[in-house]
Amino acid sequence: MTLTQTLLRSPLAAALTTPHGVDRYIELVAPMGVVDEVRAKIVSIHRETSAGAPVATLTLEPNRRWRGHQAGQYVQVGVEIDGRRRTRCFSVSSAESKPGDLITLTMRANPDGLVSRHLVEDARVGDVLFLSQAQGEFTIPNPLPASVLLISGGSGITPVMSILRTLLRRGYGGTIHFVHYAQSPDHQIYEAELRDLPPNVKVRLLYPECGDPAYTTEELRGLVPDHAELDTWACGPAGLIELVQETYADSDRLKVEYFKTSTKPASDVVAEGATSFAVSGKESANEGVPLLEQAEALGLSPEYGCRMGICMSCTSRKTEGTVRNVMTGAVSDEPDEDIQICVSAAVGDCTVQL
Ligand code: FES
Repeated sequence: MTLTQTLLRSPLAAALTTPHGVDRYIELVAPMGVVDEVRAKIVSIHRETSAGAPVATLTLEPNRRWRGHQAGQYVQVGVEIDGRRRTRCFSVSSAESKPGDLITLTMRANPDGLVSRHLVEDARVGDVLFLSQAQGEFTIPNPLPASVLLISGGSGITPVMSILRTLLRRGYGGTIHFVHYAQSPDHQIYEAELRDLPPNVKVRLLYPECGDPAYTTEELRGLVPDHAELDTWACGPAGLIELVQETYADSDRLKVEYFKTSTKPASDVVAEGATSFAVSGKESANEGVPLLEQAEALGLSPEYGCRMGICMSCTSRKTEGTVRNVMTGAVSDEPDEDIQICVSAAVGDCTVQL
């Protein structure tokens, strides 16, 4: 650590800059020079495909606070939009990194996603983003298994590509089965790279909307007959992942990552009553969907980031009522508790401070 950095991180510097902290002042003149937080500069932007919502890969140069990432992990990315910081989770798509390495994020401009649309459509080379350290358990073990199976759907390909690229960079000699589902060949990202892999990588790109078979256990057995004996990583929309989990119901060889939670109401929980959003004075009947969606359907705009119960951006105070965590099924009827509304559904009359 340089003398300047030591001084900037000293108790004296902290005292002089209270209550905002040293980084709030440094970032006004040199955003990449903040001493406690991770920032990353966009060094290139590659347009992947323009079929459907456009997709871009951003290559980022993190500052010295970045500790690197393991293949399969994600980061929270923050951007200032209309004077307010918005945060969203994105998987790192490049191979595992160490401090000082460049990393890539690939994202589709989700029509409802302020952050993804900003990054794909408005971000420019040289822009500096807020970044968290890497997070997540969707990672590969050490030592590696003899063969692996990777399954992804849509944008779920990004952490899987990080795993694939890491295995290839490490010179992995086992068989890598990779089954990916996309909307159509025109929507396929990384297409050229996927068509030019070494012989130990068996890639199957499938487009069910264009006539290819959709995912079923039988179809997977046809593609990868020994799938049940393989350590398997699957990432994609909730519908696909739930089917893959059924395939591996009796196995502990599956690791999964959703990029969007299931908003299906749980069949064993009856959603009754109504939720009052006390600050706005709005109310609607409960239908078993997360409170974030229920609020948005009423025209409210609560803050959110990952929409997966991870980043805490959507934390709101529930003053009364019972909620169910749609990811874990856990039910809570505590009054005056902070809940993540992206993964909490009301199961009776409920009041939330929104
Ligand atoms: S939006 Fe990230 S926890 Fe709810």
